[in-house]
This record gives sequence, structure tokens and C-alpha cells, in this order.
Amino acid sequence: HISLDEQARAVLRGNDRGGYSVPTDGLYPYQWNWDSGFAAWGFAQFDLPRAWSELETLFSGQWPTGMLPHILFHRPDPGYFPGPEVWGTEGLGPVPSSGISQPPVAATFTRLTYEKDRAAGRVHIEALYPKLLAWHRWFMQWRCHEGMIFVTHPWESGRDNTVDWDGPMAAIDPVGIDPYTRRDTAHVDPHMRPTKEDYDRYLYLVQRGRDLGWDDAKMADSMPFKVADPTMTFILLRANRDLLALAAELGEDSAEIEGWINVLEEGAERLRNPASGVFEAIDLKTGAHAGNVTSAAFLCWYAGIECPVMLGELMEAFEASQFPVPSQKVTDPKFDAMRYWRGPTWTMMNAITALGLIDMGHPDAAEELRIRSARLLAERGFAEYFNPHTGDPAGGGTFTWTAAIWLAWAS
Ligand code: DGY
Repeated sequence: HISLDEQARAVLRGNDRGGYSVPTDGLYPYQWNWDSGFAAWGFAQFDLPRAWSELETLFSGQWPTGMLPHILFHRPDPGYFPGPEVWGTEGLGPVPSSGISQPPVAATFTRLTYEKDRAAGRVHIEALYPKLLAWHRWFMQWRCHEGMIFVTHPWESGRDNTVDWDGPMAAIDPVGIDPYTRRDTAHVDPHMRPTKEDYDRYLYLVQRGRDLGWDDAKMADSMPFKVADPTMTFILLRANRDLLALAAELGEDSAEIEGWINVLEEGAERLRNPASGVFEAIDLKTGAHAGNVTSAAFLCWYAGIECPVMLGELMEAFEASQFPVPSQKVTDPKFDAMRYWRGPTWTMMNAITALGLIDMGHPDAAEELRIRSARLLAERGFAEYFNPHTGDPAGGGTFTWTAAIWLAWAS
């Protein structure tokens, strides 16, 4: 009999490629940015040096601009598309990489790793602090519109095919893309993945970024996809609060970070749809709120923002499904229980949602979420995501961030 903790540790060990983790073997064979943050949180429960190397290897791919890419292609792997040759980023960063970033969870997991052993962690936060600061500064300079953090590609948000992007994606005509062969659907049932219409646009947007030389100013100006995102805004707001705590530990001047926090607090309020009171994505090309409830909105507490409307939505989600929080509200006509970010529950989102609920004085809701998530993982394993009604596992198996949040939070 192998305990669940041992199984989770075995998943992390199995996905270890030597100083960094892959999210899962096969489907995602490189180092992904926010996946690595969660991996560090998992390793921090039983192997602190390995937690630090996860974060340090991630920052080895940071561009001189401060941008931290969403994928680092440390070693070629023909099982994944699109690889480094499609991104066309040669010369822009120290490691072959994509040209866009991902939700900045790293400062938060740096702080949590540090708090496990401050004496041993000191040297690590000294090295990471200026890199985190440069990354956050890059977001504030190049991806911030009126205090809201926007994404220039659905992959940048990490929520590739959320209903939030349906309007802006429909407005894109993916003309002139090079012929391509998807690899993801060779690993996973196509019903659990984005559609071909989505992929054509993902590739079209990569080509646009490449045409612009991944130049930050040009991208902010002319990428065809420019959407203010609650995931990004809330996660960066939280990350800035954690960076502020690290600055205090190091005796660094923190006025700049405090300024960012004020800007993002104001911006977060703009994401609130006045009609519903819910935090939603905004298409910056049209100014329109997305008009639906996704799991991104439940990160408000994680960002330090109270919201009775969202607490009501959470209570509804507990009633409406066995295994919340669904990535799309289950009563919405577009809810699709198994298709990636259009319905399934992602337990790493639950973990950070619960961190926020605890911080903001909602321990009962946090505990309910933990208990339901723990039951799901104990019964169904460490899959990438799950059907919120049946708990059926979906996407990749033996998944790093799912095993990590088991160890760090759910168990
Ligand atoms: C993928 O390939 O599906 C990833 O989500 C891109 O980051």
C-alpha cells in the first residue's frame, strides 16, 4: 500500500527533468512558467533545495527586458507543437523559449518556500528578488492598461480556451497561417482539448508576435488580441504583496511595489461588470465585459479583495456541482464539463482560491473547498483537470501541479 503522499511525491520525482519539472510527460515536455511555481510549492513540502532549483531554473530563462517566458525549451522534443522554431525568438533570451509570459505566481511561491526555512532561504531570495522585481516591472510597463493586466495571446493567461476569449477570438480571421500538425490531440482525447478554430487562431497570434519581433511596445500597440484578464490582474496583485514582504525581509526600498499595488487595486475594480458585480475579462478592443462567471473571478480573495457577490457565487458553485470550482459556471449554456477551461475544475486554482479565502476571513468556505478537492484527488488521482459533476479525470495524467497542491494544501 502506497500512501497518497508517497504517490504525489512520486509524480513530482517522475516529472523532474533535472532542476526543473515538466507539467506531465508527453503532452507538456518542457518547463512551463506557472506550473513551475506550483512545482516549487510541492517540492517545498519535502525537498527545499529542489524547490529552490525549480524557481532558479525558471528564472534562467528570463529575457533582458524582464519578461519571463511561458515555456522554456531546455531540450528539443518532437512530441510537442509549437516548438522553438515556430516561435522565432532566437537571440531574445538566454534559453530557447516562447515569446509570451504566464500568470506570475512565482513571487508567492518564493515567499512560501522561504518561510519554510528562512536561514537557508535567505541566499535564494537575495538572488531571486531582483529578477522577480524586473518581471513584475515588465508587466506593469507592457501589459497594464488602467491598472488591469492584459494578455496578448490566450496562452499567456494559462486559460487557453476559456469562454472569456470567445468574443475577441471570433473577431480574428486567421489568414495566412502556415500548415501545421497538432501534437496535443495525439496525447489526449480531442474532446478535452481546444478546437481547431482555437488552434488556428493560437498559431495566427504566434505568427503576429513573431512578425513584430516580440517587441513589447509594438505588441501592446498592434497584437490583434488584447484582453484584460482577472487571472493575471489578481495573481500579479497578490504577487506584488508577497514581493513587498520579501522586500521587507531584505531591507529593500519598496515604494515602487506599493505604487503597483495601488494601481492594480484600482484596476481590479474596473474588471467588475457593473451589471452583475462579477469580475470579468474585458476585451480592450471593444471595452466589453465578457459576461460570464469563470474560476478566474474567484481569485479576488487571493488578491486581497473582498467581494460578497463572489462569495454568493461560490456558495452556488458548492450547491450546483460536487467538485467545484468549475472553470465555467455549470448553468451557463457554454459549460462543457470535459473541455479544458470551458467547464472542468482545476484543483490548483482551488488551492490558491482557498489561500485567499483563509486570508480574507472565510475559513469555512476554504475548508469546504479543500475537503471536496481532497476527496476528488484521493478518488481520481492527480490528473490535469476534472469533470466538476462526476469527478472524471481529464487531460494529462500524473500532473505536477495537481500532485504539488495535494502535498502543499489538499492532504
Ligand atoms: C498548450 O500547448 O496547450 C499549452 O497550454 C500552451 O501553453
